Amino acid sequence: MQIVYPFIAQTLKVICTGISDVLDLGCGEGFYEGTFPCRSYTGLDLVAPKGENYIMGDMSSLPFPNDSFDVIFAVASMYFVGKPGIEEAHRVLKPNGILLVFDYNRKKLQKLEETEGLVHPINWSRRKLRSLLRNSGFKNIKPLSMMGTGRHAFLEPFAYARTIRRSPWVIFKSTKINEKAT
Ligand SMILES: C[S@@+](CC[C@H](N)C(=O)[O-])C[C@H]1O[C@@H](n2cnc3c(N)ncnc32)[C@H](O)[C@@H]1O
Repeated sequence: MQIVYPFIAQTLKVICTGISDVLDLGCGEGFYEGTFPCRSYTGLDLVAPKGENYIMGDMSSLPFPNDSFDVIFAVASMYFVGKPGIEEAHRVLKPNGILLVFDYNRKKLQKLEETEGLVHPINWSRRKLRSLLRNSGFKNIKPLSMMGTGRHAFLEPFAYARTIRRSPWVIFKSTKINEKAT
């Protein structure tokens, strides 16, 4: 069962503001709606909950115009889609908008496949995610590491390889740079 991870909710609270238009990609039940400040929240999923803030759609072909959102996040969903998902996120982010990808690492995905029979079509890895972000035009690509566990977990800029190895998460924060201004 998917839950609200406190370290993810806390990160969204820090990144999102009362004037952010926010898109939750692969939102599932929409557990993160209402956990952070924003002007608008939109959840998109192949099977989205009913409600005016939710849209049924495919992350690899988003039904939004270019430059629509200030913050886009994807929790345990980007590894289902990969390249088209990252490219679409870049397209619909406003200039200087932020993408946060919270994915499970390869080991955790393998475990989920064994224990829950989940099938992930993409051979996913931290390195692959980083290179897709770079090739899709994202800048300031920063891995975040999760420190601690459960309620006390928090994120900090990647510092220790040891921490990364212990964590089941692969987390990247990246920015769509305002190309017109550069
Ligand atoms: C492990 S769940 C995570 C749900 C939610 N992000 C959360 O943390 O509670 C993965 C979600 O990704 C969605 N998903 C998978 N492929 C998708 C796609 N191509 N387009 C949109 N959603 C997709 C699934 O329907 C599922 O709800």
